[in-house]
Amino acid sequence: MGLGQVRHRLVLHSVDQNMNYFRRLELTIDVPEFDMSVCRLAQIADVPNRDRYKYTLWEKESAPPTPLHVFEVPNPYATQLLSQLPQAVLDREVPGVFYMRMEKPHPDSTVPPHVDVGRRTAINVYINCSEEITEFFSADEQTQTLISRGSFKANEGEAWLLNVSKPHAVRMSDANLRSCISFSFRRLKFDELESLLLKNGE
Ligand SMILES: [Fe+2]
Repeated sequence: MGLGQVRHRLVLHSVDQNMNYFRRLELTIDVPEFDMSVCRLAQIADVPNRDRYKYTLWEKESAPPTPLHVFEVPNPYATQLLSQLPQAVLDREVPGVFYMRMEKPHPDSTVPPHVDVGRRTAINVYINCSEEITEFFSADEQTQTLISRGSFKANEGEAWLLNVSKPHAVRMSDANLRSCISFSFRRLKFDELESLLLKNGE
């Protein structure tokens, strides 16, 4: 699916949510065509960082990690994307707008369990995805184990609200590329953002 073809209606499906971890959204987001080469690389999140990868170290077995490239979406595209978020959300916080892509370097690669650093909540609008599984966990600090709180497979064009302050992991598929627009909220917590979005829903 091309960048210009992403259309999405946010419908709340009871099977597509897990309290306080993730929720499929009902939103229509048009992703404009933009030239990737004008995007500034913000981060390559493949370097084990103590805070980010604390939960990775709890894993008994580890698969090769998938480097995640994060680009800043420049204007006017960032503004165009932001203008499609509900005003009630923007009144509280204007999120960062990023383009994220993961290229699968190895058949068994994963994004291992981690929490995101520098943001609490994200809205991901998937551009390219296939059968990847995003799984969320709660953490038992005492026994250093992760307890699954559910998982989902996104479809291209869908938007998902993610509590990236909770441990999460992505099991990659055979597809070569996974990419999305990611709205990054540093301040708003999952439940605050969720209620702003629900208030806006029909
Ligand atoms: Fe993450």
